[in-house]
Amino acid sequence: MARARRGQGAPFLAACLLLVQCGALHGGSLPHISQCNFCFECEPTPPSASTRHRSVLDRGGGPKGAGGAAGVADGAVGTLTDPKWATEPDTAYEAAAIASGIPGALVDPLSVQPEMIGPIDHEAKQRLPNCTRCTGCSTVLSDMHAAPVTAEGLEGLAFMHGKGATNGWLFFGKVAGGSRRFIVKVYCMPYSKAHGRPQQCANEVYTERMRLMMAQVRLADECGAVGITPRVWVAPVEAIIPNGTFRGYHVRWHGLWMEEAPGITLHGLHTTRGAENTMYELLTKKMNKTQVIQQTVLDLLTAQCDRHSENVFITPAGDLTFIDNDRALGVVTRCGGDSMLLPGNRYHTQLRLGYWGPTMQYYKSHAGKPNFCTGPIDMRVVMDYRCYVPGGKIGADYPPGLKSCMEALARHKTPDIMRRYGFSSRKPAEILLRRSRDMLMMGFEGALAHSPPRSTERYVYQPQPPCCGIVLDMRGTPRCAQCWQPIVEAQKGSTKDNGTAARFKEVLVREDE
Ligand SMILES: *[C@@H]1O[C@H](CO)[C@@H](O)[C@H](O)[C@H]1NC(C)=O
Ligand SMILES: *[C@@H]1O[C@H](CO)[C@@H](O)[C@H](O)[C@H]1NC(C)=O
Ligand SMILES: *[C@@H]1O[C@H](CO)[C@@H](O)[C@H](O)[C@H]1NC(C)=O
Ligand SMILES: *[C@@H]1O[C@H](CO)[C@@H](O)[C@H](O)[C@H]1NC(C)=O
Repeated sequence: MARARRGQGAPFLAACLLLVQCGALHGGSLPHISQCNFCFECEPTPPSASTRHRSVLDRGGGPKGAGGAAGVADGAVGTLTDPKWATEPDTAYEAAAIASGIPGALVDPLSVQPEMIGPIDHEAKQRLPNCTRCTGCSTVLSDMHAAPVTAEGLEGLAFMHGKGATNGWLFFGKVAGGSRRFIVKVYCMPYSKAHGRPQQCANEVYTERMRLMMAQVRLADECGAVGITPRVWVAPVEAIIPNGTFRGYHVRWHGLWMEEAPGITLHGLHTTRGAENTMYELLTKKMNKTQVIQQTVLDLLTAQCDRHSENVFITPAGDLTFIDNDRALGVVTRCGGDSMLLPGNRYHTQLRLGYWGPTMQYYKSHAGKPNFCTGPIDMRVVMDYRCYVPGGKIGADYPPGLKSCMEALARHKTPDIMRRYGFSSRKPAEILLRRSRDMLMMGFEGALAHSPPRSTERYVYQPQPPCCGIVLDMRGTPRCAQCWQPIVEAQKGSTKDNGTAARFKEVLVREDE
């Protein structure tokens, strides 16, 4: 059987290979990437202006077209209490998508459909010949981890981008013929980045992640924190993998396109030798405190569970951008918050006790001594809202934009919130509703301590006292400017969840809310 098939296939394959070869030799007639399995050199081919125009305005987007998206919306419309709020037009988002220059950028999160974010022709594709050269790549990807990124305006400081989620293939990406660089995350590659082995993709799960990222941009906008997180779009990628084991693999489905955050990550600053003084200047003098407060409130509101210093960018002017919001709004099970901005959260305490360095050892042996005042500290701890609000408490005194967006959330029902932000399940909407209500009623500190969803033990620490000023000692080692005595508490990295699943079946809002 197999032999017979090979016999029939061989001349066909040979002809193809010949064509590909001829194409390579004579330019002009190169095969299109869609005719190749792998293609090792793909000529950038700018998308046509007509395609760009049509697809940006095609809010239906995916293979199911407008029908698919409308179907979801219609389902929710039946129970909407405020159809006006829930379906306000997306003109600003359409304008931003067109301005991005990314062809086919989707504006409505509900138009992102599971079958769009991975290959649907995996088997058939493998039966095509490999091409040495081809045309048709409207996206040009490059290796994000090949070289450090130099931070503009920061005297030659450079940093490496974090590797991100294990499932995501992350690249720098440009539209062919365009000049603006984006970060492109390709979900649902049929091969694992880590081992190169074939892998299945939970398309539905990642569709929801992408929708959550889009929703959080909208939320930040509506809460008066425009630009605090990079804009993101789900849009087609038509490219080859630039490097590594899968060099030449044809990516031909939708990925997540993200604006590049300006500046350098706090982690990058922290790990760069010789950057201490720059870091000191930035964190103690230039850092935008309004943005610290805004993001702190947003992290609590969205139950952010991945806010560490690789996800925080600072520019030479002190402007902050917070990236990678895909582990929020209930994505991480049994996590109600894990942010370096929120006292009592794991990342907040880790930064202050430095479990892996000498800091913990120092406080363990010195903090109990009679004349103890302070010791070494990580400069990043001054990114703490308590240092920048009167009395160290927000209470119910939220920045105006945040207050009004929380009030709007609190007076709506779950289906309205789902429709407005493009959620396909109740959970993220319930979190926004419950947290808004609690944050308004209990004040910020009360909600931080009590509002569900709550975290399992391993994310919960005693809130450390704030350290609001830093001095560099003779050796350049940062210390807290005041007496600062941390609560010495063991790390809980391996603590098992205590209790049954029932304990975590928290009711966030009533079923009819
Ligand atoms: C095409 O290239 C890929 C990657 O290098 C390789 O795994 C595959 O065997 C090649 N296919 C053919 C038909 O040569
Ligand atoms: C990827 O490309 C860079 C240069 O562009 C090179 O230094 C690096 O070795 C390449 N990595 C792999 C895995 O091929
Ligand atoms: C800090 O950020 C806020 C919000 O983006 C902005 O309005 C303000 O101008 C910034 N402050 C400074 C000093 O740049
Ligand atoms: C587990 O939880 C129960 C009650 O929820 C508590 O009594 C017990 O002390 C906890 N055990 C540990 C090891 O935390």
